[in-house]
Amino acid sequence: MQCVTQRGQRTGRKRGGGGWKMVGFLLLLLLGLAFVLLFICTGLLKWNELRYRKKGLPPGTMGWPVFGETTEFMKQGPSFMKNRRARYGFLFKSHILGCPTVVCMDPELNSNMLMNEGKGLVPGYPQSMLNIMGKWNIAAVSGSLHKAIRSSMLGLISPTVIRSQHLSKIDENMRYFLCDWNGKLIDIQEKTKEMWLLLALKLIAGIETGTLSEALKSEIYKLLKGTISLPFNFPGTNYHNGLQARKKIITILQSIIKERRREDCCRTRGDMLDSLLGLDVDDEAKLSDEQIVDTIITLVYSGFETVSTTTMMSVKYLHDHPKVLEELREEHFEIRRNKSSEDKIDWNDYKSMKFTRAVICETLRLATVVNGVLRKTTQDIELKGFVVPKGWKIYVYTREMNYDPFMYPEPLSFSPWRWMNKNLESNQFFLAFGGGGRLCPGKELGIAEISMFLHYFVTRYRWEEVGGEKLLKFPRVEAPNGLHIRVSDY
Ligand code: HEM
Repeated sequence: MQCVTQRGQRTGRKRGGGGWKMVGFLLLLLLGLAFVLLFICTGLLKWNELRYRKKGLPPGTMGWPVFGETTEFMKQGPSFMKNRRARYGFLFKSHILGCPTVVCMDPELNSNMLMNEGKGLVPGYPQSMLNIMGKWNIAAVSGSLHKAIRSSMLGLISPTVIRSQHLSKIDENMRYFLCDWNGKLIDIQEKTKEMWLLLALKLIAGIETGTLSEALKSEIYKLLKGTISLPFNFPGTNYHNGLQARKKIITILQSIIKERRREDCCRTRGDMLDSLLGLDVDDEAKLSDEQIVDTIITLVYSGFETVSTTTMMSVKYLHDHPKVLEELREEHFEIRRNKSSEDKIDWNDYKSMKFTRAVICETLRLATVVNGVLRKTTQDIELKGFVVPKGWKIYVYTREMNYDPFMYPEPLSFSPWRWMNKNLESNQFFLAFGGGGRLCPGKELGIAEISMFLHYFVTRYRWEEVGGEKLLKFPRVEAPNGLHIRVSDY
């Protein structure tokens, strides 16, 4: 036994020595690998910096080949921008969302760039978005074609048309949409998205809530998801689904257009499609069917996230600020005072909703529904002594302008009163709706819709948040698990 034990101990010691050697070898190997990896990484970072080194470019770093600094940008969001601004100044280069990009955080310059798009700048939205939205989508065109498409759009959603055609339909739609919420637990994020889609379908092509709207709704959701995905066209990817959804939407819209052309009675519908088909207006600048389809898709797309998110966030802020809610309710009850429950809101009522408008502007500012806009250079352009090469993106990053304490004292507080009687809305540094030749043509329609929602919502209901759900502010404003409210009659 003793012998066996001794042998065993001896053998064990031998194995132990071999084991340590093995561990040592593995450690060395790992160290070697780490060193090679570090060498490769440093080399790649350096190579990427050199690749984009060009005289006159603003300072900044380009990150990894292909991916650039996208991961840091998406993860850190606004602090990524603020850190770079602290290190490099208001204008710096980076590589984000697949492109070499110059980020501009200079208020003056941002405002000027939006006002003077023609001078070497065009919209710079991602390829996945342009492919899914179609080649006639307004963000894909510039110059005289942009002017023509924009002017037909303005003919559909200008304040005059809202007053004469849309307001009454929005009223009908909101009454119906906001009935029967008493006692319900509602995901207001989901509901406000649905609200925009159903209303858009009604205003655009007179489509009422039903089978067709449901079919279109699910395809539109897929299309929207596809526009914010990487352009990998394989079955199962969001991009692929978005392209497929586009095809289905086109087929549905084309059949509606065909039907309209066959019918005689369509002159009486007075919706956007009638105007686009030139059936109720004598418009010389008629669009082709392909252009009409892309215009409709653009209209649905443009209002979707902006209107629904602003509505959701206004509900959130009103919940958190009872004094604001009280004043808003007073405004709306005052409007209802001389009306029966059947009477609709008319243009004068809408125009009298001054505090409501202030609530909407303050929501847009504090939540920063729009962080900025993207442009692409069509030639080398000079910005503050730096040169941005042709083909680069410029991120006109306007987020921080919303928190400027000189323009908005106590910028982090929700105070709609700051918008009353001060003409802040037309200030050149309030860029929630963009500016210049691409100033949002749907601004008034968006505000009218949110105002009408708030009118029926606050006069009919009170609500409590349930669950205190998480809200993300970047890269988009969203409640990843929904924003649930318990609603009861007021
Ligand atoms: C709260 C609501 C809204 C906000 C905050 C908003 C914001 C913006 C911004 C910032 C731009 C400028 C984009 C750029 O310069 O690249 C823009 C453009 C645009 N918006 Fe809106 N928008 C809203 C509602 C709507 C609605 C309801 C529609 C249509 C029904 C609409 C249609 C458009 C279109 C077509 C453009 C492109 C204009 C052009 O390129 O000439 N928007 N919007």
